[in-house]
Amino acid sequence: MLIAQITDTHIMPRGQEWLGDAETNVHRRLERVVIAINNLKPAPDIVVLTGDNIDGTNHSGAYSALKEILSELRTPYYVIPGNHDDREGLRSVFQAQRDSSFVFDHSEARVIGLDSLAPGKDFGFLGNDQLQFLKQSLNERRDVPALLFAHHFPVNVGIEVFNQMTLRNAEDLENIMRFYPHVIGLVCGHFHNQFSTLFAGKPLYISPSCAPNFFFESADAKRASHINLEPPQFSLHKISGFNFWSKVISVVRAERTLVL
Ligand SMILES: [Fe+2]
Ligand SMILES: [Fe+2]
Repeated sequence: MLIAQITDTHIMPRGQEWLGDAETNVHRRLERVVIAINNLKPAPDIVVLTGDNIDGTNHSGAYSALKEILSELRTPYYVIPGNHDDREGLRSVFQAQRDSSFVFDHSEARVIGLDSLAPGKDFGFLGNDQLQFLKQSLNERRDVPALLFAHHFPVNVGIEVFNQMTLRNAEDLENIMRFYPHVIGLVCGHFHNQFSTLFAGKPLYISPSCAPNFFFESADAKRASHINLEPPQFSLHKISGFNFWSKVISVVRAERTLVL
């Protein structure tokens, strides 16, 4: 099974720019990622958007712009929220999904997306509803591997400002991941940087972002110092048996394909 992950798109309403700077160009960055995913061979089975899908205070305008760009995707997609999202806004726009968390079943695996949004906060929290949803989803199907997705990562990442924005109740998630041997790992966003480690004795992968990635001058930085306007990035996850591998794709050029 093949999963494409797009994270931290930070889409603004049309006519507005992320961080107030036209060069961030988040709409165009996502359009290029959509083209690149549509050109993948083999095509992924699903696309998962792991939060900070929008930014700014005009939630409905931003979600409209997001949905319009995603309508070009030729692969079914699922959306979970990050700290910049609005749970009700997301639910109302992506009605086909019906909720801010999801389960996707494939013959080879079950994919579970969790809602770690704590309204008004930059850190994450999995409420009782999410923990129960996760346990139920894991109990329902134990014969195939389960891969979990959430916006907030549950570990420190070596940069102080992001250590303050982790998943607060990491222990609750860790207990569940340790209890169910068929959980093969956890995939997150939020950091605007790639990062890999172990959590609950299993792989934890953090994808770099579609919007520009953050750079920090020191580990104890209180905020990001700058962004580089490098190409938008997304990740591919291949589930093979009870293992998965992940790779980053930088969309250097996606306006057209060169047929060989
Ligand atoms: Fe973000
Ligand atoms: Fe975030």
